[in-house]
Amino acid sequence: MPDFCGLELAHPIVNGSGTFDAIAARRAFGDELDAAFPFSAFVSKTITLAPREGNPPPRLWEAAGGLLNSIGLPNKGLEGYLAEDLPELARLPVPLITNVMGSTVEEVAALVEALGEREEVAAIELNVSCPNVRTGLDLGADAAELGRVLRAVRPLTATPLIVKLTPNTADVASVAAAAEEAGADAVSLINTLRGMAMQPGRAGRPWLGARTGGLSGPAVRHVALAQVAAVASRVAVPVVGMGGVTSGRDALELLHAGATLVAVGTESFRDPAAGRRISGELSELAANRPFVSEV
Ligand SMILES: Cc1cc2nc3c(=O)[nH]c(=O)nc-3n(C[C@H](O)[C@H](O)[C@H](O)COP(=O)(O)O)c2cc1C
Repeated sequence: MPDFCGLELAHPIVNGSGTFDAIAARRAFGDELDAAFPFSAFVSKTITLAPREGNPPPRLWEAAGGLLNSIGLPNKGLEGYLAEDLPELARLPVPLITNVMGSTVEEVAALVEALGEREEVAAIELNVSCPNVRTGLDLGADAAELGRVLRAVRPLTATPLIVKLTPNTADVASVAAAAEEAGADAVSLINTLRGMAMQPGRAGRPWLGARTGGLSGPAVRHVALAQVAAVASRVAVPVVGMGGVTSGRDALELLHAGATLVAVGTESFRDPAAGRRISGELSELAANRPFVSEV
């Protein structure tokens, strides 16, 4: 039973933000969803202070061994989330982690303050793959700026804060260390890797409406392993590892690289019950030591 930021979780497998719609799943499967919920905690998709429509289509490209998406974080905004989604998500049989993103200190502070007051929210995940209005750089690619934002919002809540790091930076371990020093209770990684696809037969024209998108799935798994290992050896706070996990064996490798929890993302689009299968495979691997080293 992993202890993660004071939460006793039934197993180490959670979902990656934005890759499992628990409200739609409840509509489809009813109470059966609760009996066989695939994850030990549920992470919401990113919400922002104001509603967002997301990026122009097309938003998806099937890449070799992965998925390129430029969904662009469409969401109802904080008010819509609190009024419509939170009551539904609070009924899930597992703790709720709400993922938020803001492009100024003020936006992040408003989100953290509002969610920190809600007892339904067990932890807040801060998505820092977002251009900072002040610097133009992604917040998560700039250790000093991330530290400044976190130091400003940390005192606003006692709810655990998880910082979701971007892999699109030269030195993710330094960014993780800055997050820890500024009061993060945990870090999670990797978010998607920036990528581009070209329109077949139309020279030089990008496929995605937003030109570039984020690559996920098995294609990024070895990048994830390297970055999780680098971060876990640098920080003392727990690490949620993700990126390309499709099996218990993949999850085990991330745990061995130093993760406390493992998130399943793109694989849930192929198989919505993947989280449950992967946590089953993981406990089988653990039961079959001497063939694998300790989980
Ligand atoms: C379609 C899609 C939507 C996503 N939406 C979000 C999101 O709203 N917030 C976020 O922090 N990460 C989001 N992610 C990133 C995933 O949570 C995860 O970090 C990434 O996909 C790597 O894991 P995977 O290879 O298992 O998918 C999204 C990924 C995909 C594929």
